[in-house]
Amino acid sequence: MPTDRRPEFFKGAQLKVAIIGCGYVGLPLALRFAEAGHKVTGYDTDPEKINMLNAGRSYIEHIQQTKIQQFVNSRHFSATTDFSRLKEADAILICVPTPLNEYREPDLSYVEQTALSIQPHLQRGQLVVLESTTYPGTTEELVLPILEKSGLRCPIAAGPENENVPVDFFLAFSPEREDPGNKQYGLAQIPKVVGGVNAPSGRAAVSLYAQVVAKVIPVSSTRAAEMAKLLENIFRCVNIALVNELKLLSMRMGVDIWEVIDAAATKPFGFMPFYPGPGLGGHCIPVDPFYLSWKAREYDFSTRFIELAGEINTSMPYHIVDAIAAALNNHKKSVKGSKILVLGVAYKKDVDDLRESPTLKIMQILQERGANFDYNDPYFPQLRKMRHYNYEHMKSVPLSAETLASYDAVVIATDHSSYDYAAIVDAAKLVVDTRNATRRVLRHRNKIVQC
Ligand SMILES: NC(=O)c1ccc[n+]([C@@H]2O[C@H](COP(=O)([O-])OP(=O)(O)OC[C@H]3O[C@@H](n4cnc5c(N)ncnc54)[C@H](O)[C@@H]3O)[C@@H](O)[C@H]2O)c1
Repeated sequence: MPTDRRPEFFKGAQLKVAIIGCGYVGLPLALRFAEAGHKVTGYDTDPEKINMLNAGRSYIEHIQQTKIQQFVNSRHFSATTDFSRLKEADAILICVPTPLNEYREPDLSYVEQTALSIQPHLQRGQLVVLESTTYPGTTEELVLPILEKSGLRCPIAAGPENENVPVDFFLAFSPEREDPGNKQYGLAQIPKVVGGVNAPSGRAAVSLYAQVVAKVIPVSSTRAAEMAKLLENIFRCVNIALVNELKLLSMRMGVDIWEVIDAAATKPFGFMPFYPGPGLGGHCIPVDPFYLSWKAREYDFSTRFIELAGEINTSMPYHIVDAIAAALNNHKKSVKGSKILVLGVAYKKDVDDLRESPTLKIMQILQERGANFDYNDPYFPQLRKMRHYNYEHMKSVPLSAETLASYDAVVIATDHSSYDYAAIVDAAKLVVDTRNATRRVLRHRNKIVQC
């Protein structure tokens, strides 16, 4: 018996919304649904996060504690590790990680595990939406078969003749476009792309999201929605690689690439500025393009732009360390044995996120080359063991003129707004600037090496 619940049901008030994965994507989404008056339950496998959330505490710097407290107190938000409660939900939104494994291939184990945890509790009329970034085909090829093991059906059906295909539950894909720390565009202002496994699923997901974002963009399939997210991130990855390569050339030519970008950006059409840096960071841009390269192999297709961009972006931390070595050389010093202070471990400015941060790679190369290095980052008083790196013994060095002066070189790896760049240049012997953070510093320019 197909469900008698219409897709338009999800236009309704006070829906029960389950968010699986309470991280950088899931938590803001949960709070947004709570703000819109729905009853939200956050699910996570990490009991520590669940306890903090239920106590009204935030573990992500840019997510306000007061907001969590407000919705916990008003009973619009609670969190749990008990997945059997999923049967109470009207809509289930999946926001779990999609990393690469050690062979740089898609690791869909979190998505698979989540589908397996939903399946025994799946109810007729529920809407399930995958939000995790992934290759085209994931929703239909991985999530759908697991959910259909429940005995309930959601047929893959495109085309106008299938507008009202009977379904037991609704299944869609809608990529998250969260940009942590972006003060201009919050979740509510960012349009959301939605594609259903069939038309009723698409309409159900559009109805739901239209309640919490300014604009919903329906597309014809989950594959189109999955691919749209990858196109957005590949676009960034390729353009960042392009500008990184042009930076290397400009440096050889004695041209200031940042001046060039600012000049080009005055063109009112057909140009969008991207900025060079020490390499790619964050959970998305260094990872997502490789989801598509991997899937492309199934079609005997090689994604050359993605590979080339990956090659250039991956080489950037090595370039930075070479630039540090050259700068020390000018001071008659070698990397081996030099004291180096690295400023900023976060992958970008003003965020408490160091996933895939190029600084971690720079520190690893410095270590291999025998440097004595420390770091400072206001967002990370100390470092923990990570998947690829182990800096758990390291603590952020407090900044003072004396400390800065005690290092052979100070490397600006992340351009946090809280740093006083003029004071840093005043005090340091040598500053290696990977972000053009010192552009407004007028004194002691001879101490600054841009790279
Ligand atoms: N962080 C971003 O800026 C961003 C932006 C757009 C898209 N995305 C995508 O969104 C997805 C989630 O990313 P994120 O940054 O929120 O990750 P995250 O690591 O911050 O959060 C994921 C959460 O899922 C939990 N989790 C893991 N396995 C689980 C399971 N089986 N059941 C329940 N919870 C589980 C983890 O404990 C964690 O709290 C990824 O696919 C990512 O590519 C991230």
